[in-house]
Amino acid sequence: METPITVAKGDGIGPEIMDATLRILSEAGAQLAIETIEIGEKVYLSGNTSGIDSSAWDSLRNTRVFLKAPITTPQGSGVKSLNVTIRKTLGLYANVRPCRSYAPYAKTLFPGMDVVVIRENEEDLYAGIEHQQTQEVIQCLKLITRPGCERIIHYAFEYARTRGRKKVTCLTKDNIMKLTDGLFHQVFDEVALEYPEIETEHMIVDIGMARLAADPYRFDVIVLPNLYGDIISDIAAEISGSVGLAGSANIGDLGAMFEAVHGSAPDIAGKDLANPSGLILSAVKMLAHIGQGDVATRVYDAWLKTIEDGIHTVDLFVEGISTTKVGTQGFTQAVIDRLGRKPEKLAGTSYKNEPMKQFSYQRKPPAKKVLKGIDIFLDWRGHDISDVAKTLQAANTDSFTLKMITNRGVKVWPEGFPETFCTDHWRCRFQGGGSLGHADVIELLQKVASTGLDFIKTEHLYEFDGVTRFSLGQGQ
Ligand code: NAI
Ligand code: MG
Repeated sequence: METPITVAKGDGIGPEIMDATLRILSEAGAQLAIETIEIGEKVYLSGNTSGIDSSAWDSLRNTRVFLKAPITTPQGSGVKSLNVTIRKTLGLYANVRPCRSYAPYAKTLFPGMDVVVIRENEEDLYAGIEHQQTQEVIQCLKLITRPGCERIIHYAFEYARTRGRKKVTCLTKDNIMKLTDGLFHQVFDEVALEYPEIETEHMIVDIGMARLAADPYRFDVIVLPNLYGDIISDIAAEISGSVGLAGSANIGDLGAMFEAVHGSAPDIAGKDLANPSGLILSAVKMLAHIGQGDVATRVYDAWLKTIEDGIHTVDLFVEGISTTKVGTQGFTQAVIDRLGRKPEKLAGTSYKNEPMKQFSYQRKPPAKKVLKGIDIFLDWRGHDISDVAKTLQAANTDSFTLKMITNRGVKVWPEGFPETFCTDHWRCRFQGGGSLGHADVIELLQKVASTGLDFIKTEHLYEFDGVTRFSLGQGQ
């Protein structure tokens, strides 16, 4: 039975490496019904700022499996990143990047390294919600959600379990971001209980990355929020020596996209120089994903055999290690010639047909949410904040009392330090007791507005089930 997939040949070296990859898949016996779509430069230049048209979307919605060659993104603003659009539209929440060494055929300090980075792909600072609030201050909202954490962390543990991996490491910065990264860490601890056979650890992300760079052997699977994952997946790929060989999978419950990590390499396009390996290895992951694990194993073994036989494209070619310098086509033929053979020096992998379990989020019963106060942010260019404090105290209502003012999170009133540098963005915290509601908030805002001070946003302060769920001011 053929599995329908969508293929985009992309720009630059894209068509050459895609043709090479599809030839190998077909010779290896992959059962695929291929729909080809046009994305990228041509679509952008035709005036479509998203780089993808509606017929392409129809194919993606239909097949839900996308093998994508790199595209050339036109310079300048006004065009949207196609990758981000596809990721968000198809809900591809997990970005999986295996980073293993192919030493001595690709240069690395860490022969034998084999780490998989699983990065949350949709949330965190990449939600893309940014606002300039005052002349001097801009904010970007970092959104971490419980469903998002549960999904990606389950995915990481299922990945480890189905592939026989021993350990999952979680990296966050929850010593600073106690609520957002704290939630990611907490969910990690909760989900870990469902996988007692897998060793777990948590590290603060900065020391975690430093240790990875110095000693990647102590890691196996790493799961982490979006921004840290973006950074560490490049570090891990780079030190494994195989950035040019790296493939990646973007996985969601509704679809999956597989692509090489490198770009469209316009400098070598059309010259039969490009190394198709990144896309071939991405296609191997795709085959495993659609339940053709035996074909995935065949292709991967033949590719490993080609590499260890020293048949290398120019980007990998090293005198003394390589034996034959080939172009894209020669490399492709060499892989095809080795289908059915096993590598002797490099370790292979047996791809299993176990489809990942679909994760369905169970919403928890509603928590008891109690309003405890409000932060009112002011745009104010003065220096002596105690004047503002006096004005705001006069605006206190029966429900709310001014407790503190901070600047960039540092308390400046009451009892601030004259040394604290201040911008034009002030957070004024009002707290109250009893049962507070919207009417109390509106009353307070009306009184603050009548003072003539310019407030530019508010944040409510809540307790959930009796637990304070807002951060204190630095020094509070
Ligand atoms: P690039 O990865 O295309 O090229 C960097 C260098 O690596 C070049 O010297 C290139 O010749 C070489 N190279 C890349 N892939 C190779 C391969 N398979 N075999 C041999 N050599 C290879 O990155 P660059 O130059 O920053 O970007 C070029 C274009 O690619 C840009 O328009 C960029 O936006 C786009 N791009 C697209 C991506 C995607 O569609 N996923 C990802 C990254 C970049
Ligand atoms: Mg990146």
